[in-house]
Amino acid sequence: MSTLTASAPTASVRGAQQRSADLEREIAADPGLFRILTGDRPTGPLHLGHHFGTLANRVRLQAAGVEVFVIIADYQVITDRDVAGDLRGNVRELLLDYLAAGIDTWATIFTHSAVPALNHLMLPFLSLMSVAELQRNPTVKAETAATGGRGMSGLMLTYPVHQAADILFCGANLMPVGQDQLPHLETTRLIARRFNERYGAVLSEPEALLSAAPLLLGTDGAKMSKSAGNAISLRASEDETARLIRSAKTDAERHITYDPVHRPEVSSLLLTAALCLGVTPESLAPEIGDAGSAGLKRVVTEAVNEHLRPLRARRAELADADDYLWDRLRRGNERANQVADRTLQAVREAMGMNY
Ligand code: TRP
Repeated sequence: MSTLTASAPTASVRGAQQRSADLEREIAADPGLFRILTGDRPTGPLHLGHHFGTLANRVRLQAAGVEVFVIIADYQVITDRDVAGDLRGNVRELLLDYLAAGIDTWATIFTHSAVPALNHLMLPFLSLMSVAELQRNPTVKAETAATGGRGMSGLMLTYPVHQAADILFCGANLMPVGQDQLPHLETTRLIARRFNERYGAVLSEPEALLSAAPLLLGTDGAKMSKSAGNAISLRASEDETARLIRSAKTDAERHITYDPVHRPEVSSLLLTAALCLGVTPESLAPEIGDAGSAGLKRVVTEAVNEHLRPLRARRAELADADDYLWDRLRRGNERANQVADRTLQAVREAMGMNY
């Protein structure tokens, strides 16, 4: 994930970036060799950051001919909170966002909770990781810290192992990720490797496909996030979008310039409009110039609403087709179960548990 602030990538990130460039060439040459698994926690509707990041990437890979599995990670919702909230409603919002964004009928969309064999894989996989290894995962540490002193649940500590099961059950060989998910990919690869060494070659080791997702800031200037209440969601109405953008934090300088380091909020707004308009933020800034924050916000509002209009129209149509939506999920769950049952069978056979 490219960030607005230019921090130097670590060696493992650089390695993943290089490998990703090769993978993109291999995908273009023979997409049928690849299967991706990605997903989201059903904690709220998706927003512009998802739209220009993970959703665009999924749709691009699918259009290239890669097989796409999308997990709605309902069991992962309760890693850092006691109550899951309106799960059914949140799952429905994700379904609407996915389908409106163009995730097509060939994609397998499914939920954790409907695929028992996937969850079963947690048991052998947990035996392959030490507690010390689990405690070292930087993403788990960061997410625990973000809960503000809440004790770490066992599910939080082990969710990277659960996520490994998400990926390994379906034999996904590519995981399109942002940098924050790289530690989870490493855990997944480690589990596959250890399982295969101990019991025989059953699982394939997936590779990271790093995507250059733009980092958009929310209306409060912090990272745009589903749970922070600072996001412009895909489902927002045009008026709501206008209101949210009008309330966005900017700075006191009137003249609009693109300067991500010193003017992160203004620059993120410029980037948002630029992504919608298909231009660069550098070229957009002087066009707004002395129109100031108010002028910038007018441009952003119009660009976002215009860009999302077709998606929102599809979303509204789908929202009226409840039977179709839930049927789509039911079929995804069925397919995921078929695949997961086969994998669990192979795992149990390799472990000598096939009585
Ligand atoms: N952890 C991801 C998130 O919070 C969701 C997720 C669950 C996922 N399982 C996955 C992502 C497997 C990629 C692969 O958004």
